[in-house]
Amino acid sequence: MRLLVTGGAGFIGSHVLRFLTSRYPDYTITCADALTYASNFELIADLENLSNYHFEKVDITDKDLVDGLFQRYDFTHVLHLAAESHVDNSIKNPLAFAKTNVLGTLNLLEAARTYFKDQTCLFYHISTDEVFGSLGETGSSFTENTAYAPRSPYSASKASSDHFVRAYGETYGLPYIISNCSNNYGPGQHSEKLIPTVIASVLLGKPIPIYGTGSNVRDWLYAEDHVKAIDKILHEGTAMETYCIGGDSELSNLELVHLLVAEIDKQLGNPKGHSNRLISFVEDRKGHDFRYAIDHSKLTKDLGWKPTTSLKEGLKTTVSWYLNRMK
Ligand SMILES: NC(=O)c1ccc[n+]([C@@H]2O[C@H](COP(=O)([O-])OP(=O)(O)OC[C@H]3O[C@@H](n4cnc5c(N)ncnc54)[C@H](O)[C@@H]3O)[C@@H](O)[C@H]2O)c1
Repeated sequence: MRLLVTGGAGFIGSHVLRFLTSRYPDYTITCADALTYASNFELIADLENLSNYHFEKVDITDKDLVDGLFQRYDFTHVLHLAAESHVDNSIKNPLAFAKTNVLGTLNLLEAARTYFKDQTCLFYHISTDEVFGSLGETGSSFTENTAYAPRSPYSASKASSDHFVRAYGETYGLPYIISNCSNNYGPGQHSEKLIPTVIASVLLGKPIPIYGTGSNVRDWLYAEDHVKAIDKILHEGTAMETYCIGGDSELSNLELVHLLVAEIDKQLGNPKGHSNRLISFVEDRKGHDFRYAIDHSKLTKDLGWKPTTSLKEGLKTTVSWYLNRMK
């Protein structure tokens, strides 16, 4: 396999690269990343020593650079993770999200359509459960058949890119797979996201900002579990299909923050409940989706994947990773 991984210097991409380069030493794996503010090159710097791995600083919104990559490496597979990924930023600057997430994806699709040699090639697009919109307290979980109803500029841009991927499958016969996953967490996530923000706030004794009343519900997927799902889908998934990936860990933001604060206090040797006083409610995010929930039974039934890291275990490892770096 000659594999292009886009966005490999980001949070999930870095876990993907580490896993795939070590498990498949006979593959040629190229990471293309523009190294935006959201990247952390340190997470993957050591991979440069591997003979089966290359790094290319490429902005996917530059069509010529993307074409050049495909010409140079003759990819058989693309695993597309590069994106603007933070909902709050999309509310402030939607155009940047349309540019990278939609036009960037189109550049990759065009290159794949032009340079892929045959139907054994695959364009695997990583998407989000946010494209399905917002559930009520009791609505049933998202499945592969849930209609799209994105509500933020971020989810609209991801939904749009999903539609383009499927359109290339229908129109040009481009072999593709899409997976839609829930909120990832784990070591290496950018400090703008909820879990790293909470850890940094406790460490600095600063208020822990929680949107609204903290009642919004998310499903949490440990990044390592996600990577194992991606590995299964990349190798055993059926082209032209979609797979939902979830962590079986649905809870409100406030419940999550309580669990997290308890773990941080424990690892810092603080008395029980010590940092709860830092929890502070701030003005809600505009158009804040109430609940996301994923039914991953297709992936479990067809490919035998299910999440294996409990939220407790995952939070423990995550907190310890950040504390080691921040203290
Ligand atoms: N993190 C989550 O909880 C989550 C959940 C569902 C889906 N996803 C999707 O998974 C993918 C990866 O998410 P993440 O959390 O690792 O994101 P991230 O923000 O941590 O990393 C994104 C990476 O993409 C790169 N990138 C951004 N714009 C680029 C461009 N124009 N050209 C080349 N590279 C560019 C950045 O430099 C960065 O390294 C995204 O497609 C995201 O939509 C993430």
